[in-house]
Order: sequence, then C-alpha cells, then structure tokens
Amino acid sequence: MGALQDQVVLITGGGSGLGRALVERFLAEGARVGVLERSAEKVAQLVKDFPRNFVAVVGDVRSMTDNEKAVAATIANFGRLDCFIGNAAVWDHGISLVDISSENLPAAFDELIGVNLKGYLLGAKAATPELLKSQGSMIFTLSNAAFYPGGGGPLYTASKHAAVGLVRELAYELAPKVRVNAVGPSGMASDLRGPEALGQQDKRIMDSRTPEAIRAILPLQFFPEPADFTGPYVLLASRTDNRTLSGVLINADCGLGIRGIRHVAGGLTL
Ligand SMILES: NC(=O)c1ccc[n+]([C@@H]2O[C@H](COP(=O)([O-])OP(=O)(O)OC[C@H]3O[C@@H](n4cnc5c(N)ncnc54)[C@H](O)[C@@H]3O)[C@@H](O)[C@H]2O)c1
Repeated sequence: MGALQDQVVLITGGGSGLGRALVERFLAEGARVGVLERSAEKVAQLVKDFPRNFVAVVGDVRSMTDNEKAVAATIANFGRLDCFIGNAAVWDHGISLVDISSENLPAAFDELIGVNLKGYLLGAKAATPELLKSQGSMIFTLSNAAFYPGGGGPLYTASKHAAVGLVRELAYELAPKVRVNAVGPSGMASDLRGPEALGQQDKRIMDSRTPEAIRAILPLQFFPEPADFTGPYVLLASRTDNRTLSGVLINADCGLGIRGIRHVAGGLTL
C-alpha cells in the first residue's frame, strides 16, 4: 500500500517538470490526482499516460473560475480533496532590474506575479472549503529563490519570497484544520519558461544553463531530476507521517545554502 493510499490531490502546472513528476509519484503512492494546467497539449499527453485515477482541467491559475473548475472536477471524480499543491510558475531567466526596459517592467510584473503569487492565492481560495471539510493540507512549490538572491531576477525572487509570506499566513489562518507547508527545490531540467511580456514565453530554463553548471554549484554535486524533489511533498501530504508540520519550508536546495567559503574557493575534495 502506498503512503498516500486513496488520498486525493490537486496539482497546478502538472503538465511537465516537477508538476508531472508529482503526478507520477502521487499516483504511485496510491493517490488519485487532479491537475490544473494551461497547456492543452500537455493535458492531452497526461490523459493518455495516466488513464486511471486521474483528471485534468485545461485552464489558467490566474483565473478564479479555472481554479474553481479544477476543484469541482476533482471532487466530481474522486469525491473529496485532501491536498492542494500550488506549483505552476514562470521564471524570469534572471533578468536584472537594469536590463528590463521601463516599458516592459509593469506588464512583466503583472504577468509573473499573476502566475506565481496570485495563482497560488486563487488556488488556495478555491481549495479551502474542501480542505476544511477533509482537514487536509496545502503545499506550495518555492525555489532556492525564496531563500537567496541570484536564482532569478527581482521579479522571480520577489514572487517566491512573497509566496513564503502566503504560506505562513495561511498556515496561521487555517490551523488547526489545514496544514500549510512548502518545498523549495534547486535547479532542475524542466520546461520552465518566462513571461510573454518579456518575450520569454518560448525560452526554457535549460536554454541558458547546462546540467554541469548546475551540478558544479550544488554541494551535493549532482544534477537533480524533477522526481528527486517529490519525496518532501509525499511527507508533507501524508496524514500519518506529517501530523506536526505546518508553516514549514523544506529547503530542498541540494545544500546550496551551506555552500560556504570552502566550496566557493574550490576547497576540499571528499
Ligand atoms: N526548473 C527549476 O530549475 C526550478 C527551480 C526551483 C523551483 N522551481 C519551481 O518548480 C515549479 C514547477 O516548475 P517547473 O520547473 O517544473 O517548470 P515547467 O514549466 O516544466 O512546469 C510548470 C507548468 O506550469 C504550467 N503553467 C505555467 N503557467 C501557467 C498558468 N498561468 N496556468 C496554468 N498552468 C501554467 C506550464 O504549462 C507547465 O506545465 C515552479 O513553481 C518553479 O518556480 C523550478
């Protein structure tokens, strides 16, 4: 029996990368899974690949109606909701304040913060009535950019820091009925793109980085797959293994935060 047998989860941005890895992992753990995903092509592929215990809605996390549709479809198919995972996001490819033009900045802010923060808030709002009933949990995907600068530009880093505030406030407001936590992954190969307002809608995260460059800066010295980050989500979603964590940010950064001077300098080889 899986760790999440018969639990029901709704994941935003489940079409590729980490979200898709979460779909696979939660199904493997015995859960039934709903997805809200913007790309119709990715949804068609998911439906083909996961014919059982799975439902997906094509929609945009910035729309309250689409979030409500995704919750309704999950309830219609599986009867309950135990866990909401806010995960859909866009990156900014690390564009700095100096490099963003004044013309593009307001629209880029609205688009990126709209997906990365408003999307999380609207998803949480849509899921809350069902989670209060089931006394379930929420999990939000953060990033190393929720803890340190340089993992994005000011737009992305601000969006992930703001999501930390959302996690803490919701954990406070929804206790004792709903646990609210987060996982902050480090870099991985995915389809992560940027805002249209910056012309980055077709530019993928790995277009400007190599696995070797990411491996080189991580003290754990491997290039993680999206699946490598799914374990903390299973732990946080579990009703048996997680009775105690709420308002917790699991920093799954492959040791980035403890890199220290020794590693920066090239230091010891173990
Ligand atoms: N890839 C990395 O290096 C990395 C590092 C740290 C954190 N993250 C975080 O991981 C999470 C998942 O990203 P990923 O890397 O798997 O990227 P991804 O692009 O592969 O997955 C994100 C999914 O969200 C969907 N999406 C985007 N905007 C949407 C919207 N408005 N409405 C509905 N769906 C939308 C995309 O179509 C895509 O399928 C994000 O929160 C991201 O910030 C990624």
